[in-house]
Amino acid sequence: MRNVVLLGPPGAGKGTLAARLSQELGLLHLSTGDVLRDEVARGTELGRLAQGYMSRGELVPDEVILAMVRERVDGRRGVLFDGFPRTLAQAKGLAAFAPVDVVVFLAIAKDEVVRRLSSRRVCASCGAVYNLITQPPQVAGQCDRCGGDLVQRPDDRPDVIARRFEVYERDSAPLVDHYARQGLLVRVDAGRPPEAVFADVLAKIQG
Ligand code: AP5
Repeated sequence: MRNVVLLGPPGAGKGTLAARLSQELGLLHLSTGDVLRDEVARGTELGRLAQGYMSRGELVPDEVILAMVRERVDGRRGVLFDGFPRTLAQAKGLAAFAPVDVVVFLAIAKDEVVRRLSSRRVCASCGAVYNLITQPPQVAGQCDRCGGDLVQRPDDRPDVIARRFEVYERDSAPLVDHYARQGLLVRVDAGRPPEAVFADVLAKIQG
């Protein structure tokens, strides 16, 4: 079982791809964004700490994230990391407790991610992800899976999207070179439909 990292800007489709890829490859899907949103929803100490950073589109401090991930990995092999690592410090911290076998970089233009995030809706009950343009629900405003209400994520407001993208370019984009230098990077064109992205990733990481 290999440890796989999904890297890419906000809205590149990491979560959408991770849901299918983790099933196909039998990996544990570990999304730091999902874990943090769950902590916020439950009003835990970690959630209260993270909420301010998330609502502004800033990163939660590295040491908090590393402790959170380490606890969940717990020595396990076969993890699909979604949205982590996001800084060089996180990448170095991860290397100290889990080896990275392959890094999939979802390359996509900024105007496309802005379009995707502005039209994203998520289920308030089960967290399923939709898109009003590319992946609409069968009944408007209602989750196909559980019937829950579809809502906009608080950080999908235009001003926060812009900040998240700036933070990505400053802190996370350098990871592309970091992993390329280690010979671990697989680059995929993420500007295509989900099916095409999934098939390409599968071919490249299994080939
Ligand atoms: P996080 O939840 O990780 O947000 P993100 O990285 O900005 O990524 P998104 O979830 O917005 O997008 P995605 O790439 O998963 O795209 P999706 O599949 O949903 O993090 C949120 C916040 O938490 C951060 O800002 C930070 O504060 C904190 N945080 C999290 N991790 C952290 C860390 N490691 N360190 C510090 N802080 C951290 O798709 C987007 C939309 O497009 C959807 O509507 C979807 O339906 C649609 N779509 C997907 N794929 C396609 C496709 N191929 N074609 C057309 N539409 C598509």
